[in-house]
Amino acid sequence: MLSTNIKEATKMAHQELEGKVVKKLKAIRSEADYADVLKHFYAYFNTLEAAIKPYITEGLLPDYASRRNSSYLKQDIEELGAFINDLPPVTIPAIGNVTEALGALYVMEGSIMGGPYIVKMLQKSGIDKGFSFFSGYGEETGRMWDNFTSVMNQTISAEKDQAMAIKSANETFSNFSHVFEVKAA
Ligand code: HEM
Repeated sequence: MLSTNIKEATKMAHQELEGKVVKKLKAIRSEADYADVLKHFYAYFNTLEAAIKPYITEGLLPDYASRRNSSYLKQDIEELGAFINDLPPVTIPAIGNVTEALGALYVMEGSIMGGPYIVKMLQKSGIDKGFSFFSGYGEETGRMWDNFTSVMNQTISAEKDQAMAIKSANETFSNFSHVFEVKAA
């Protein structure tokens, strides 16, 4: 099943990205620093969302419109008194079909699982607002994740398609890791 295979095959890429994000979070000393981290998330997620949009139709994933997206990041950045200008440059994977789009969306939806840990780390640094993005779906998180992975598993089953989704997810992770090597202007 793809949901099992993709988790296993992207484990390393997740660990590498998690390490980069944790390093950034630990360096946060002010709301402005936090807003800068969110701008990295915004630049990447917003660009990727536009690339997958043609493929993630309502017929494929009926609850897509109600899912968390980069507009939450914009809201958080603005709540912190910053703006979505001077964004860091991003390179996203090439998305040319539903399979690649779902591989990329797997990474974005899965990132919600790390949210509670991120919020706790931020609170330790004295940050107390701008949490709408990392709060994810709260108690609904498990149900939303199950819905997503069911659609993903039903849509992608052939071995070569699974390999394509996994490649897309791995590239989505690694390209995002690169974004954190660049400082927002
Ligand atoms: C401080 C940063 C992060 C922490 C502490 C973290 C932690 C976690 C944890 C605890 C899980 C659940 C694992 C499980 O239940 O088996 C998870 C899953 C996941 N995370 Fe992260 N994460 C972080 C950042 C990210 C980011 C930035 C992304 C992507 C943009 C991401 C993508 C994923 C994905 C795709 C899964 C789902 C794995 C699966 O069950 O298939 N994570 N993460």
